[in-house]
Amino acid sequence: MLDRISTGIKGLDELVEGGFPKGSFILLAGSPGSGKTIASAQYLYHGARKAKENGVYVSFGERKRVFYSNMKRFGFDFEKLESKGKFKFLDMMTPRNEEISVDTLNAALEQILATKAKRLVIDSFSALSLAFNKKIDARIALHMLEKLTREINCTTLLIVEVPTGHSGLGLGFEEFVVDGIILFETIEARSGIRKRAILRKMRGTNHNQNYSDIVISDKGLSLMPYVT
Ligand SMILES: Nc1ncnc2c1ncn2[C@@H]1O[C@H](COP(=O)(O)OP(=O)(O)OP(=O)(O)O)[C@@H](O)[C@H]1O
Ligand SMILES: [Mg+2]
Repeated sequence: MLDRISTGIKGLDELVEGGFPKGSFILLAGSPGSGKTIASAQYLYHGARKAKENGVYVSFGERKRVFYSNMKRFGFDFEKLESKGKFKFLDMMTPRNEEISVDTLNAALEQILATKAKRLVIDSFSALSLAFNKKIDARIALHMLEKLTREINCTTLLIVEVPTGHSGLGLGFEEFVVDGIILFETIEARSGIRKRAILRKMRGTNHNQNYSDIVISDKGLSLMPYVT
């Protein structure tokens, strides 16, 4: 049986036989504003606070100050976790059209190792891919990340942005490399928009196959049975 870790997202553990397989590499794909950042921050916060698992958030899209302030709204005090050495925010935003250097990636890797991270979030792999001039380099980076995840037994959430109206996920190769895929969608409902989640794959797991409602409140993000 696989070791499992609690995700910290209310309603999710029970859909995946108790939690994510430890050390797995999971894709969290979704439309703009569907809750990817909140869910992944909650996963890291829970890990560092409750599961004694240090976390690293690698950001290609949001500045640390904005992230900390947005997440405080849900009661996630990342500043405090950082001061205790349990969390690290890596700001990897690069100026437009500037390719990311191998040195920058190696520095990030060192920080992940120094934090002894057992939970990692890359937000987002879509943005990281754009910082490479060639698609093949994005593919190499993905394999490097996968190797790292397995070597240090660090459970990793790889965020992929799905633009409105698109049906494919990322560049096409990510889906087959990862152990699990969670899809967050924003759909048009009768009375407005509705957010929903579905598990597309989770290796080694008899996972739930139905949609769940994504509910975001001042306590964070949770999944609820989908009412049609
Ligand atoms: N306090 C709150 N209460 C309820 N809903 C909220 C609250 N704060 C944010 N939201 C919802 O969460 C969304 C933002 O979530 P999040 O930043 O996790 O999305 P995302 O999927 O990461 O988006 P992007 O792809 O743009 O980065 C907002 O658009 C809003 O719908
Ligand atoms: Mg986001």
